[in-house]
Amino acid sequence: MKVEVVLTEADIAQEFAEAIEARDLPEKFFFWFPRSATEWAALAGDAELYGGLWETWKEIAASAPLLVKHFAGRVPVISFGAGEGGRDRLLLAALKDAGCECQYFPVDASQAMLEMACAGADDDDIETVGIKADISSPVHLVYAADAAEPPRLFIMSGNTMGSFDPLAEIRYIAQCMKPEDRLIIDGEVFDPEKSMARRDNPSSRKFVSALLASVGIEDEDGDIGFNLKRDDRHAGLHLITRYFRAERDLSATVAGQEIPLERGERIGMNFQYAYTPEAFRWLVSQHGGLRILNEYSSPDARFLTVMCGK
Ligand SMILES: C[S@@+](CC[C@H](N)C(=O)[O-])C[C@H]1O[C@@H](n2cnc3c(N)ncnc32)[C@H](O)[C@@H]1O
Repeated sequence: MKVEVVLTEADIAQEFAEAIEARDLPEKFFFWFPRSATEWAALAGDAELYGGLWETWKEIAASAPLLVKHFAGRVPVISFGAGEGGRDRLLLAALKDAGCECQYFPVDASQAMLEMACAGADDDDIETVGIKADISSPVHLVYAADAAEPPRLFIMSGNTMGSFDPLAEIRYIAQCMKPEDRLIIDGEVFDPEKSMARRDNPSSRKFVSALLASVGIEDEDGDIGFNLKRDDRHAGLHLITRYFRAERDLSATVAGQEIPLERGERIGMNFQYAYTPEAFRWLVSQHGGLRILNEYSSPDARFLTVMCGK
């Protein structure tokens, strides 16, 4: 298994301690601890978490012969925030079956997730190099994109863009693209009733609790709560925020360092965007400057996935 490291474990441990001090945890830490990665891998296969997104990927995989034509029989697939890579492998297998030579570059901040993505692709006999990098950094994104010569197929799936500022992230990704590259990217479609319920449930709470338990905070130490907000920069941008509220004085232990938390204090546990379909299209095309070549709505209407070019 080959993994190139741009973001080191020492960097992440340092950033994690600083983030707890600042009471604000970005998304990458939720997948960092082995316990979180195991919980996520279990959730990723769960129909509840991604619903009809798997069906969308089967539809995309069915169009593999067209993609093979575009890429002239050789395609480097670079997946930003690859996670355990299950849906990427679905497409890679279809590309291979259609006679394409594939190289796979899963990019993730989590060593544990990268190992899963690389091991899965190795098992499928796909030439794979993992890249441990921070996909919220434009410099790291460019480094990862340059792992192969254009034309490349970029992927950002599972509402991964929704855990960053999507207005900044889509532009960073677009900056990495050359005209002949393709990008498959999705967004979760906002539903006033279901979007919150999909997060505020026992399996999602268990995933968040895995991170807290990894720093010594147990369920009885406090509450996990959710809020729904709007991003006024454009109509149709909704965001769901999470927080932990300490019910008593306690301390988190990060890389041997004790960080005290007082009763009543909150730690922001990142956010996730969900969009109206119009807002998602605006984000990718007008704001990101990309051309939408194809659209795939998941059968449960929960995800909108687009294939784009520059
Ligand atoms: C919501 S999961 C989606 C995984 C996968 N794409 C899927 O569709 O199942 C987000 C992934 O992005 C990774 N991630 C989150 N923040 C990151 C960051 N700043 N840099 C690199 N990877 C990050 C996480 O480790 C996780 O594997």
